[in-house]
Amino acid sequence: MILENIKVLHGKMGSRVIHIQITLLLCYLLPCLAEDFIFNGFQQAAESLTLGGVAKIIDGDKLELTDNSNFVMGQAFFSSPIPMMRNQKGNTTVVSFSTCFIFQIITEEGSNGGQGLTFAIAPSGKLPDAYFGQYLGLLGPTNNGNFSNHVFAVEFDTAMAKDKFIETNGNHVGIDINDLNSIISTTAGYYANESSKTNLLLENGQPIQAWIDYNGTVKVISVTIAPLSVPKPFKPLISIAMDLMPIFEEEMHVGFTSSTSKHRASSHYILAWSFRTGGAAKSIDLSSLPKVPNSSSRRSGHITTKIKVLIISTIAAFAFIIILVGVLLYAWRRTRFPDEIEDWELNHPHRIEYKDIYKATKGFSKTELLGSGGFGHVYKGIMPRTEEVVAIKRTSNNTRQGMREFASEILNLGRMRHRNLVELRGWCKQNEDLIIVYEFMPNGSLDTLLFNHRNSNRAITSWHQRLTILKGVASGLLYLHEEWEKVVVHRDIKSSNVLLGTDLIPKLGDFGLARPYNHGENPQTTSAAGTRGYMAPELLHMGKATTSSDVFAFGVLLLEVACGRRPIELSAPENEVSLVKWVKECFLSSELRKVVDPRLGDEYDYQEVEMVLKLGLVCCQSRPEVRPRIREVIQYLDGSQQLVDDFPLLLQDVNQDLLEPQPAKSVHSSHGSVSMTSLQVGR
Ligand SMILES: *[C@@H]1O[C@H](CO)[C@@H](O)[C@H](O)[C@H]1NC(C)=O
Ligand SMILES: *[C@@H]1O[C@H](CO)[C@@H](O)[C@H](O)[C@H]1NC(C)=O
Ligand SMILES: *[C@@H]1O[C@H](CO)[C@@H](O)[C@H](O)[C@H]1NC(C)=O
Ligand SMILES: *[C@@H]1O[C@H](CO)[C@@H](O)[C@H](O)[C@H]1NC(C)=O
Ligand SMILES: *[C@@H]1O[C@H](CO)[C@@H](O)[C@H](O)[C@H]1NC(C)=O
Ligand SMILES: *[C@@H]1O[C@H](CO)[C@@H](O)[C@H](O)[C@H]1NC(C)=O
Ligand SMILES: *[C@@H]1O[C@H](CO)[C@@H](O)[C@H](O)[C@H]1NC(C)=O
Repeated sequence: MILENIKVLHGKMGSRVIHIQITLLLCYLLPCLAEDFIFNGFQQAAESLTLGGVAKIIDGDKLELTDNSNFVMGQAFFSSPIPMMRNQKGNTTVVSFSTCFIFQIITEEGSNGGQGLTFAIAPSGKLPDAYFGQYLGLLGPTNNGNFSNHVFAVEFDTAMAKDKFIETNGNHVGIDINDLNSIISTTAGYYANESSKTNLLLENGQPIQAWIDYNGTVKVISVTIAPLSVPKPFKPLISIAMDLMPIFEEEMHVGFTSSTSKHRASSHYILAWSFRTGGAAKSIDLSSLPKVPNSSSRRSGHITTKIKVLIISTIAAFAFIIILVGVLLYAWRRTRFPDEIEDWELNHPHRIEYKDIYKATKGFSKTELLGSGGFGHVYKGIMPRTEEVVAIKRTSNNTRQGMREFASEILNLGRMRHRNLVELRGWCKQNEDLIIVYEFMPNGSLDTLLFNHRNSNRAITSWHQRLTILKGVASGLLYLHEEWEKVVVHRDIKSSNVLLGTDLIPKLGDFGLARPYNHGENPQTTSAAGTRGYMAPELLHMGKATTSSDVFAFGVLLLEVACGRRPIELSAPENEVSLVKWVKECFLSSELRKVVDPRLGDEYDYQEVEMVLKLGLVCCQSRPEVRPRIREVIQYLDGSQQLVDDFPLLLQDVNQDLLEPQPAKSVHSSHGSVSMTSLQVGR
């Protein structure tokens, strides 16, 4: 536009000054109107090109539109759209453009060669309907010949399409508008002079230079080709008057397409390319052209695309069949055996659907995690139907032992009801996932309450609260030992298994180790299980778990609460490592005040604390037969029975072995016993 404007102005004014001014203006304005680029080789060109199909830049310097596989196509377009319209005094026309490029087609010996390539101008750099074979990777059976394609191309066709398109021969150059049936086509060649045309085989394996020029003023398109040894012939191979206005859109993409077919495969390369609107394209530097790889045996072991497609579709079909069979089998199993029910599950109704649990925990989201341990994770959840807040324990280790504990916990807890036992809401078994749902304990465990704020000088709980908690635990234990239909030995009484509900009502949790037996029956010896520091000597040595060993553990809990320290504290001075031993020693030397939790300050009744400490020692005697029963423990705690005077004598028999410090480690069997230590809020 500007070029022509200048001519008009220049002619009218005839003024040198204005000419200079306008030339300056031209220089200033041209960059935003004209597109002008050159690739002398395709080094660092990847970002400027949109590649499709198998097209790629190889060896870092040349553009390979296709390799010599069968049934492939490749497209490479300049990524930026090119403005193709200009407005001239109210008339919109297509700008002049000019391009020059060098292509090379390498055909394997004995092969028929590929389909050829095109220089294409299209509305988009992507051609979703393009097809290989005779469609040259430009158009396809669905859109060939459609005027809404807005595609212009110059084809360098190396195959004769016998059935689909009317073509001159198997080595021609043609102009295509929206259709691979060319508007004009002619045998490839060049005019050395005005009268004599020299034929040129496009697939001769040598680089060939091509020029395509469109004069927007006179609306003529011309195509010229020549071997590198020949300068641009004066007379074009094709020259045809044609207005591209109805074909082009405001902005177009320029590039190349190419394809191969079943019996026709070649490697199609573009070695260099220059393009410009509004003027002649820059000349290509022929001295620095990239070299194409040798044709000989390149990709000889190449699996053709057809075979690839065949293999992939076969695999996909097999996979589909396998999945289908699997789904059907699963559906069949589900209807026959809804979710692998085992016999212990049958008489237990608390089963919850996995998807509800999944929903409740927001897909076992980390944000809902209350705590973790060797046993797995505990999540807070809101059950979708009832909107009840629950704690969800998920154990993933599906060993036989783990399974037994899981079943044991559900069977035991599911049928027991007591205000001081944590309530089971339900369970779920999904493959490896063993899930138990409990009522939610907003105040965590006694263990956190006692020890999580150790650094603060003030106790979180008052003595009164602590005593109430102890009474509650004792009451729960009484229910287990004497009040329920069977005798239940909990086997894992400890502060971390005492959970605290609203108003700090304590509830015993974790019944994974609990083993019920009939009243009057003798409990069987089992493997030693429990937590070190809480285990009675007979349990530790003989694996004999009885109500009496539960009382021992409760005694340790009494001391723990009154002293505000753990049963075994390795960092303490040597004589204080074992809590039981230390309290006993202080008791014998009449220094019992020394062991009282200093954080209780003065706000406690010493008589009560002393009673609890002594009771703890009575419970922790090494001989099970001299320990009180839990019913008596409750009477002492209530004050309805006083500790007898010969109590110190009983204490004498304390087995020293028992009081040796033991590492504060859970000996909960190798399978990682389920512990509810983590049922705490805001650990
Ligand atoms: C604009 O188009 C009209 C109709 O095609 C033509 O008569 C006129 O000469 C054109 N004007 C220019 C400046 O090309
Ligand atoms: C041409 O293409 C357009 C848009 O893709 C489509 O709506 C139309 O039906 C096509 N015409 C023919 C004849 O296929
Ligand atoms: C044109 O070129 C051909 C081949 O190079 C040559 O044989 C012929 O004489 C030339 N004709 C003229 C008029 O130069
Ligand atoms: C277009 O053709 C006209 C007439 O032949 C010529 O004057 C003009 O320079 C050409 N323009 C371009 C950009 O080649
Ligand atoms: C390519 O092939 C030719 C002849 O077949 C041979 O002379 C040349 O060394 C080969 N070049 C490479 C890089 O293999
Ligand atoms: C216990 O939980 C209740 C309810 O969430 C809360 O109001 C109370 O402050 C908690 N008490 C302690 C000591 O954490
Ligand atoms: C799972 O079980 C194996 C033995 O069956 C045990 O070694 C491992 O520690 C367990 N893992 C957890 C997380 O409980």
